[in-house]
Amino acid sequence: MAPKVLTKEKIAGMNRTGIGMSPVDGDQMVQGAREGAPTSEGSSAGLQTVREQYIAERTGIGSMPPPTSLKGVAKAAAAFVRDQRPNVFLDRLGERLAFERTGVRLYDALLTHVSVVSDKTLGPTVAELRTIRDEEHRHFELLRNTIQSMGADPTAQTPAADAVSVESHGLLQILTDPRSSRSQCLHAILVAELADNEGWQTLIQLARTLGHDDLVTRFEQAWREEVIHLERVRGWFSAQMMADMNEGRIGVEA
Ligand SMILES: [Fe+2]
Ligand SMILES: [Fe+2]
Repeated sequence: MAPKVLTKEKIAGMNRTGIGMSPVDGDQMVQGAREGAPTSEGSSAGLQTVREQYIAERTGIGSMPPPTSLKGVAKAAAAFVRDQRPNVFLDRLGERLAFERTGVRLYDALLTHVSVVSDKTLGPTVAELRTIRDEEHRHFELLRNTIQSMGADPTAQTPAADAVSVESHGLLQILTDPRSSRSQCLHAILVAELADNEGWQTLIQLARTLGHDDLVTRFEQAWREEVIHLERVRGWFSAQMMADMNEGRIGVEA
């Protein structure tokens, strides 16, 4: 199929952020930036020095919550003396719990998007997305039960959960922005599924190191589902990109 030629209407609405849109104003802008240099002393090296000082004095993002059950407290107190590794595991379990919960919300947002602008030939369908969304919810429940069985509180935010919540914030913003196109939404979900895959592999490695063979089996099942999620989302994104390329489409669908 021959590539589409841009219509006058599309050209009129074109992005004007680049300096090349107006060479005369562009030259003046460069001149203004040169003349408008900061008058205070110092440079970006000073900023770097301050950052270095903060890093050297950092106390970290958050802290691990105490165990909730008495049994958990006693066990943890005894274990703490000889082994901190279960706490490292709990921190990462908390991280996956936070991400899987966000995953459900990401798919809820994509479901809303697809219910308005679905494309049956390209996918995904509402039914396909519901299947993945429900699996993300089951992953969340698996993690909640695992954390509870270790005597910890699944509602507490661990340091790694705090960090991953910030990481995933941009994905949620794209998927809930009504201006987002299908390809932009699918790309955001693709990033989430890539992180999902890595996250479960990390948990499997940690569970195996601690000798939790029962958990390794359950986590491997969740990971197998994540592999399918990634394959499917990659397929939908790729099909959408090919359609966008053929239609000469950038941004929202006509
Ligand atoms: Fe997941
Ligand atoms: Fe997933």
